[in-house]
Amino acid sequence: MNRTSLRLRPLRCEDAPVFSGWGGDRSFRQHTGWTVTSSAALYGFWLQQVEDPPAGLVRMAVEDPTVGELVGYVDLHGSDLGEKELGFVIGPSHRWGQGLGRCAAEAGLAYGFEALGVERIWAEALAANTASVRILRAIGMEETGRGGPGEFLGRESYYVQFSICRSAWTDDGDMPS
Ligand SMILES: CC(C)(COP(=O)(O)OP(=O)(O)OC[C@H]1O[C@@H](n2cnc3c(N)ncnc32)[C@H](O)[C@@H]1OP(=O)(O)O)[C@@H](O)C(=O)NCCC(=O)NCCS
Repeated sequence: MNRTSLRLRPLRCEDAPVFSGWGGDRSFRQHTGWTVTSSAALYGFWLQQVEDPPAGLVRMAVEDPTVGELVGYVDLHGSDLGEKELGFVIGPSHRWGQGLGRCAAEAGLAYGFEALGVERIWAEALAANTASVRILRAIGMEETGRGGPGEFLGRESYYVQFSICRSAWTDDGDMPS
């Protein structure tokens, strides 16, 4: 799978029931840290994300065009126009381990550099969140340091910080053909 296999698009109202449905997946909740279990509350939250997104957050739906299904979302966050924080989620958990996370993260970098025109994208992941750290390394982001403490699946951990600038991304050959 390569990054062109997944498509990023703006969120739509019909995504709200799909995302809120992922709240019924215990493993997904534990990995993402979602604490709300009421489907009505989750539905309300996601509808608001579509209709009135928080300032400074660009949240894009990740779609697998081969099956026409919503498989996740990607965030580019921050009020600084030249710099954004990358986040990515794949759901529900039965979709993990098939390369979708890496593909979504790559699409997120491309969207940030190409569509938003940012100069630098950074990210952080808990060291204990192996999949996330592997993805950030694999997409060419450079490890820049160690952040504060955090907890992942009940284990004490700490954040590993990553960054990539436009020139490094371009040099990596990640520009579209
Ligand atoms: C992190 C997440 C996006 C990974 O999605 P995914 O579709 O499973 O990712 P991939 O299939 O592309 O796997 C990425 C790498 O992690 C590895 N991996 C996947 N699940 C793993 C696990 N449970 N334990 C260890 N490694 C794992 C894969 O083998 C792969 O490594 P490789 O490329 O070196 O072979 C997904 O688990 C998720 O949405 N988690 C909750 C939200 C989250 O943590 N987001 C990241 C915040 S920065």
